[in-house]
Amino acid sequence: MDDIYGGKRSDMELVLNRFVQRIKEVRQSMAAETDFDTIEHMLARVKSEESMREKCRRKGLPETAESALTKIYDALGVRIVCSFLSDVYDIRDHIAAEPDYEVVEERDYIRNAKPNGYRSYHMILRSVEGYYIEIQLRTISMDTWAALEHHLRYKKPHVGNQKLIVQELKRCADELASTDVSMQTIRDMLLAEES
Ligand code: GTP
Ligand code: MG
Repeated sequence: MDDIYGGKRSDMELVLNRFVQRIKEVRQSMAAETDFDTIEHMLARVKSEESMREKCRRKGLPETAESALTKIYDALGVRIVCSFLSDVYDIRDHIAAEPDYEVVEERDYIRNAKPNGYRSYHMILRSVEGYYIEIQLRTISMDTWAALEHHLRYKKPHVGNQKLIVQELKRCADELASTDVSMQTIRDMLLAEES
């Protein structure tokens, strides 16, 4: 099969690695200031040939490098899983201030959760070389929910249970969101004691 990225794959990997490296530096400088580690873990990936082709078809786009690199924005993807809610927004601010990356789109699915309960802060960046990078910032709780919901999505429930399952997933998302707010309060109390 031809390369959907038209021979740009190693270029893309360089761009992705450089972004990840930059985030690691940001993480270190933030930890030096507060003693708290803002990032729990981080994942970076180049979208696989197969998923990119599938996405082109789903969006009615030709399966070309042009579609993959200029019409679809998640060929490069980074998920940054943070310890606390405030870390999500602090890291967002650091990313937005980076001169080498232009923010082309932002969606706050934390303040405006999706109807199913999905929460995360999404950013689309464009690197100086013109590559798009999709960033997903979320807390550990949000990541847990998204991972489980993703597993369940491929299971076919009995039609009679469908409504209940959707309601229950939404309830779990909202409970986790309220726990995030409580954990943030605990962290803020601990930080206030230190100063
Ligand atoms: P795409 O056409 O898939 O790019 O959708 P979009 O452009 O409307 O972007 P959106 O912000 O909705 O979603 C981008 C990514 O966020 C998805 O590929 C998922 O990784 C994640 N995501 C969005 N909604 C959900 C959800 O309901 N559940 C889970 N588990 N992940 C989601
Ligand atoms: Mg998208």
